[in-house]
Amino acid sequence: MSRSGPQWPTVRHAAALGAVLVLAGCSGGAQSTLHAAGTGARRTEGLWWLMFWISVGIFAEVMALLGWALWRRRRPGVRTKGGDALGPVTVLGVVIPMVILVAVYGVGLRDLDALATPPGRADITVDVIGHRWWWEIHYPDQPGAVTANELHIPVGESVRVRLRTADVNHSFWVPQLMPKVDLIAGKTNQTWLHTDQAGTFRGQCAEYCGQQHAFMAFMVVAEPRAQFDSWLAALSRPATTPLTAAVQRGKTVFEQGACAACHTVRGTSAQGRVGPDLSTIGSRWSIGAGAAPNDAGHLGGWIANSQTIKPGNAMPPQPVDAQDLPDLIAYLQSLK
Ligand code: CUA
Repeated sequence: MSRSGPQWPTVRHAAALGAVLVLAGCSGGAQSTLHAAGTGARRTEGLWWLMFWISVGIFAEVMALLGWALWRRRRPGVRTKGGDALGPVTVLGVVIPMVILVAVYGVGLRDLDALATPPGRADITVDVIGHRWWWEIHYPDQPGAVTANELHIPVGESVRVRLRTADVNHSFWVPQLMPKVDLIAGKTNQTWLHTDQAGTFRGQCAEYCGQQHAFMAFMVVAEPRAQFDSWLAALSRPATTPLTAAVQRGKTVFEQGACAACHTVRGTSAQGRVGPDLSTIGSRWSIGAGAAPNDAGHLGGWIANSQTIKPGNAMPPQPVDAQDLPDLIAYLQSLK
């Protein structure tokens, strides 16, 4: 028999879709804790799988007992005495859960202890300051090394991360590298990063901090030591010198306009401290801490009125002349 017309989803379709969604949610994406690439995240991932498989085992056991009870109850002539169940209930409902909970608690304590101290010495320190809604990054051992929303670390080395906030509470989280650590007003918290894998790892503010909490993202770039050293050295040198006439004009617009009141570009007269340091904006992974791709179109839109891209952020619309805007964009893109 052939059927025509719409094919309605069957139970099998729904189950397949459910399985796909569950697997996609668990294993995919740049922010999956189940794709651990860092020493800290591997600990929490291990604990997650331990609890997952214990839960699977308990679920299977409960279902089996339920099935057995239903099957037994249906047989004619089966009568149970009240006291029959006392032994199994005590063992399965009290003793075994207690053993499991105490064991998982012990593993949790061991992991908490391991997460408190980095593997090996931490020779590099990064200061991270949370703002609504972006991340200020300092390397205190390298004078003048300041950037925003992107921090680099050398592969295979432990990096001390000191966390404080300029306003409300935030939470620093790189799911693939380390668990969450809060940035609490009036306090400096400390954590560490360590990975043996080169790559970029997306981080995200994990504590609701206002309207643009979702666009308070950052990128951790883990790279070989030599590459890290040259990146860090460049971060404390004056910004790239303009080479073309358009870029030079853009620099003048930047320094003489409102931009310089809030932003710093190293080696120029722009020394504002309200917004992110823009000395390397041309090479960053995004603008607005993950709010938009870093390209000419979005940069122009952001300068003209960033409120349309990230409503509520601290930067007011900038009335830049239409003929100046391309030069200003070219200047920003030249800063690497
Ligand atoms: Cu900062 Cu949420």
